[in-house]
Amino acid sequence: MIVKSLDHLNSISVKISKKLEKGDIIFLIGEIGVGKTTFTRHLINNLQKQKGLKETEVLSPTFNLLYEYDIKDLKIMHYDFYRINKADELDNLGIFSDRLNAIKVIEWPDLIKTPIKNKLEIHFEYGQNDNVRNIKFVGFEKWANLEYEI
Ligand SMILES: Nc1ncnc2c1ncn2[C@@H]1O[C@H](COP(=O)(O)OP(=O)(O)OP(=O)(O)O)[C@@H](O)[C@H]1O
Ligand SMILES: [Mg+2]
Repeated sequence: MIVKSLDHLNSISVKISKKLEKGDIIFLIGEIGVGKTTFTRHLINNLQKQKGLKETEVLSPTFNLLYEYDIKDLKIMHYDFYRINKADELDNLGIFSDRLNAIKVIEWPDLIKTPIKNKLEIHFEYGQNDNVRNIKFVGFEKWANLEYEI
């Protein structure tokens, strides 16, 4: 689908945030600067708003690999694996641990080959002009029909 603006991206993130549950894993796929962190920022800030919390800064985890957000009973783990070169470097990052307690959002997830139930992939591409993006949902199980629900 075509994302016309940052506002439009925000409204998409609201709809996804309402369907999110503990245990969900979202892969964000697409080139540098296409909007993966921006989407995550909207998603986290919307969850904070919905739970009556103050919105916090959401920075890119490119250098830290992981930033965590505690949003009342929800924990969001935001990863960026751009700088990881080998799959075994992922072993200590807890991608599959704490599965039932956290929601994981992963930029540059290419090295993760393990099949994941209820995975949602969001593929981003640059669009016709600066603020436009094309996104495609590849959802499994509970996310399978997302493109018709948004
Ligand atoms: N419709 C849109 N959706 C997403 N980002 C947009 C849109 N329009 C403009 N932008 C801008 O594009 C930039 C996206 O940068 P962002 O850091 O989110 O990319 P990224 O995919 O996380 O890059 P990286 O691979 O380096 O982590 C931001 O400056 C954002 O404001
Ligand atoms: Mg990013």
